[in-house]
Amino acid sequence: MKHLIDPTDLRKEEIDQIIVLAEDIIAHRERYQGSMAHKKLATLFYEPSTRTRLSFTAAMMELGGQVLGFSNPQNSSAAKGETVQDTVRVLGCFADIIAMRHPIEGAPLVASEVSRVPIINAGDGSHSHPTQTLTDLLTIKRELGRIDDITIGFCGDLRFGRTVHSLIKALSRYHGIKVVLIAPDELRLPDYIKLDVCEKMGVEYRETDNLDEAIPELDVLYMTRVQKERFLDEDEFDRVKDSFVLDARRMALAKPKMAVLHPLPRVNEILTEVDDDPRAAYFRQVENGKFVRMSLIVSLMEWRNDPEHVMPEHEAPILNPALHCSNPKCICNNEKHQPRFRLAENGITRCWYCDSKVR
Ligand code: CP
Repeated sequence: MKHLIDPTDLRKEEIDQIIVLAEDIIAHRERYQGSMAHKKLATLFYEPSTRTRLSFTAAMMELGGQVLGFSNPQNSSAAKGETVQDTVRVLGCFADIIAMRHPIEGAPLVASEVSRVPIINAGDGSHSHPTQTLTDLLTIKRELGRIDDITIGFCGDLRFGRTVHSLIKALSRYHGIKVVLIAPDELRLPDYIKLDVCEKMGVEYRETDNLDEAIPELDVLYMTRVQKERFLDEDEFDRVKDSFVLDARRMALAKPKMAVLHPLPRVNEILTEVDDDPRAAYFRQVENGKFVRMSLIVSLMEWRNDPEHVMPEHEAPILNPALHCSNPKCICNNEKHQPRFRLAENGITRCWYCDSKVR
């Protein structure tokens, strides 16, 4: 069974296959209408969403399938204390494939461990958002004509921005990727992405807090919202909330062909005066999200019983009762799951579910 919990669950060839299929869907939409007839997608959204949930819904409808689910866990039996694993066991009786968003990191992973249908992680806390990554890769390809050999600047909230973490993981498999990390000290990229992804995979990266200095060299500028809902300290949020604002003056410093991406929603980090600039790709990116999710649904349904498309093998987890995950938003600290750990780069022990460093 193939699930999509983390971008690395897909081999690079599988990512490329999904992107090529999405491009074919864009070119020949009529060929795919009805390909999911009599199939059902369940969307289990424990956290707010506009684009991800509704693009999954639109994608399944365009494929001729049907959609069920909830967008507010207070209207589900989660409000009575039902666990994530029990909920997906139940939904597996009703649906052929499940997309799940959850504020708790690792929730889609534990769901996949008991599910009899494919699980798609539609965003778990600050951790991962692999279907946004597929959207971003398709957008980069359509805007620039390539994914290899690009310099990409990630700007804003790189600490809590799950779309940033996932996209860097996926890009680390491509050639000639240079990453510029543009953030204030408080919002820097987590160490596990720098060590376990960039350094391990040989991705060139540098950190700066100066967007004006970085923008002229970029092929892609990936703007992000400062994620208010992830901060435990409101004063810290107030200090950093307006760190970077993209405006027409800054766009004048950029390459004529630079593409501006943003997973959206934006708050005030891109002024509306940028929207009419041909390099502003963020609304085209939204539409690409629907096509790539159509491609993903078709692919996961085809791959369900195909031994060529299985989940990657991992080393056995470390089960040590003396170790604890210190992330209060990790699934192992919110539901009864045995704490599990893995040995990562530089001999660091990390939580199996959320990648937090274990001290
Ligand atoms: N990009 C994204 O995940 O948007 P939503 O939160 O609206 O789904």
